Amino acid sequence: MKPTDIRPTSPDAASPGRFSGRVLLVTGAAIGSIGGCTALRAAREGASVACVDLKEAETLATVEAIRGAGGRAIAITADVTQPAAAERMVLDTVAQYGRLDMVLNAAGVMDGNPPTRDQDFDRDAGLLPAAIHKATDEYWHAVFAANIHGTFNSMRAELRQMVAQGEGGAIVNVGSIAGLTGLPGNPAYSASKHAVIGLTRNAAIDYAKHGIRVNAVNMAQTETPMVRRAYEFVKWAKEKGLGSGMASGKSRSLLQAADSEHRGSTPWEQAAIILFLLSDDASNLTGAAIASDGGWTAY
Ligand SMILES: NC(=O)c1ccc[n+]([C@@H]2O[C@H](COP(=O)([O-])OP(=O)(O)OC[C@H]3O[C@@H](n4cnc5c(N)ncnc54)[C@H](O)[C@@H]3O)[C@@H](O)[C@H]2O)c1
Repeated sequence: MKPTDIRPTSPDAASPGRFSGRVLLVTGAAIGSIGGCTALRAAREGASVACVDLKEAETLATVEAIRGAGGRAIAITADVTQPAAAERMVLDTVAQYGRLDMVLNAAGVMDGNPPTRDQDFDRDAGLLPAAIHKATDEYWHAVFAANIHGTFNSMRAELRQMVAQGEGGAIVNVGSIAGLTGLPGNPAYSASKHAVIGLTRNAAIDYAKHGIRVNAVNMAQTETPMVRRAYEFVKWAKEKGLGSGMASGKSRSLLQAADSEHRGSTPWEQAAIILFLLSDDASNLTGAAIASDGGWTAY
């Protein structure tokens, strides 16, 4: 690491007591994910956290890490593409902690393969990202189901609770650089993430009068299981001679290009930005689509 390389946020970083007495619900909270890291840091700062994901063991791992560090958390296995499951995750959170103050909606997918299934690109070829003229209905619908229907189902349940409480709240939705610009080779991902930003702005307007702030974060390449899967997919497509549109075009953010080791973002860097948006320090921010992308969309 060179002295001019930007030091990433420490995995141990915390503002002690910042979220004392507050309840946070995180979707997409499996260990190692952006949601998982945000849950861990929020708990370290005093929040009680409901960790929601399709991946049962990986969500329990996040909860065990929180409890091991003396924090409060519960695991909820739920599929946010199902409206009833989204309702239940909020009811379970309130049954456990009595209220809901903050939300991170991070559950999302890059392709149509269910997150709980093993990875076999040959078997799942029809579910993988493809340019529009080659894209299947299954790929299109699965990516939309998770990224936008899941976000809508989650927000509906969360906002019902926050409005009923009558004490405001804060929500962060996870978009992507693919919600701010086009992304080669993955039309459903790009279109669904643009929709997440639209939903965020709509909710910011409708819920300002309830004291609820709603913002979106939009990151570039961040080191999580999703991005590792994306690397493998691009490698597989290259080996098969299929090429992948996803590997074409711009591949590095400004900061990644400048870094001596070309590191991408870490989930801890994203957690720091997300928790700022959920905190009182962001009291004048709503309806923002924050480019937490190392300058990706700046050039
Ligand atoms: N990692 C990146 O480079 C990157 C870049 C831009 C945007 N994002 C977005 O960040 C968010 C978090 O992704 P990540 O990078 O932490 O990847 P990740 O795959 O580690 O985390 C996403 C989690 O969402 C869960 N999930 C997916 N569908 C679900 C459903 N229907 N119900 C419940 N849980 C579900 C998955 O099981 C997974 O644990 C996603 O919305 C993703 O699109 C990631």
